[in-house]
Amino acid sequence: MTAPARPTQALALGGIPLDRAFAALRKLDPSAHACWVYDLDALEARARRFRAAFAPLAPLSALALKSNALPALLERARATGLGAEAGSLGELEMARAAGFPVGERVLNGNGRTREEAEWAAREGVHSVNADSIEELDLLDRAAAGAGRKLRVALRVNPGIETPGHRYVATGGEEAKFGVEAGEALAAWQGRARWPDLRLDGVHLHVGSQLVESGPLEEAAGVAFALAEESARRGAPLSLVNLGGGMGVDYSGANAEFPLEDHAARLATRARGLGFDWVFEPGRWLTAPVGVLLSEVLWVKRRRGPNGASRRFVVLAAGMNDLIRPALYHAAHRIVPVVPRDGAKGSACVVGPVCESADVFAADLALPPLEPGDLVAILDAGAYGAAMSSNYNGRGRLAELVVAGGRLTRARAAEGPADLVSRRTDDELEA
Ligand code: LLP
Repeated sequence: MTAPARPTQALALGGIPLDRAFAALRKLDPSAHACWVYDLDALEARARRFRAAFAPLAPLSALALKSNALPALLERARATGLGAEAGSLGELEMARAAGFPVGERVLNGNGRTREEAEWAAREGVHSVNADSIEELDLLDRAAAGAGRKLRVALRVNPGIETPGHRYVATGGEEAKFGVEAGEALAAWQGRARWPDLRLDGVHLHVGSQLVESGPLEEAAGVAFALAEESARRGAPLSLVNLGGGMGVDYSGANAEFPLEDHAARLATRARGLGFDWVFEPGRWLTAPVGVLLSEVLWVKRRRGPNGASRRFVVLAAGMNDLIRPALYHAAHRIVPVVPRDGAKGSACVVGPVCESADVFAADLALPPLEPGDLVAILDAGAYGAAMSSNYNGRGRLAELVVAGGRLTRARAAEGPADLVSRRTDDELEA
């Protein structure tokens, strides 16, 4: 994100002023009132920084597709040396379509299906993270059927509590993910039961949007201790997957996850242990490289419960586009694309969806705004478009990318025809 040099200059992404980007989209699609924009050069810079930080561990750094699976973004991620972390059959297919090679695709998920297991065995993956002991039987059968050994890490629930919203805490005892350490140790020790698996890994993913490294370092400690104990029991491990979770600074106060320090500490602790490493970063790579651009549709004033006048700024984008504020009370910065004169005052920034939770910010200091103004919701590159829906009969928005100073529409918006395209009349019990 480049800050405006002069107060009258528009906010820009990858060198392209966002008002110009929006006007260009409107030429292709006059009905567009909002869109996503991603800076792929910024993605590459972050990918390089991530890979440089962890270079001493020579890991597979697999982008979590759940954070953003725009094909153009995936292709750029692959070109910069990232791998792909998939959590479903669809994400496996998207990873393959974007060209991620066999050895750079990791499969996750706690609801493994036969189709996923067979895909992994048939098409090939770096490794599968299994979420239960029973799942190992399914994976073993799939591997035997395809005549290809599957490398598997067992996801362990380490009972590590993480700060932040409980919906993104995944390593605590409350969470549905992973097996108990004791069960994992028994499975590694008895791994001859699954002759078509190479069951030599431990997987831990303890939470998301971590802005301190403590929980991840605790998780690493659990992984090392388990590997040591498993080796003592005659079943050495050779794969450690620490998942993702590295957080970004949504407030703009420059308080990001301490990536380099964390990586350096981890490298020191791991020296000489000889593990293959996997990381699965999502948000850290993709959140800061994207914005949600939206027109202001209306500005409405109404007296609030305390009698004071309240300003509602109604955007064209809604909670179906970016659900993070409604779902996790996430606070994204919202800024006018072209700076406006006038004193800032409180605004309640809402979307057009028929839900009282469709609020991006309940009380934000914003300058005077008028219908037709453009605002940018910042740091929306992760879990934005990826979590959007058709709720309220709203098509998903267009996605634009900037790379090397060139602006491209990388995915068109859904239109009314898309909303009725799955209508069928299939006789089911003839
Ligand atoms: N690996 C596994 C197994 C995961 O479940 C996740 C995210 C990741 C990696 C990537 O985590 P990250 O590096 O992005 O923190 N929708 C929520 C976040 C949900 C995260 C789910 N799992 C949000 O918008 O905050």
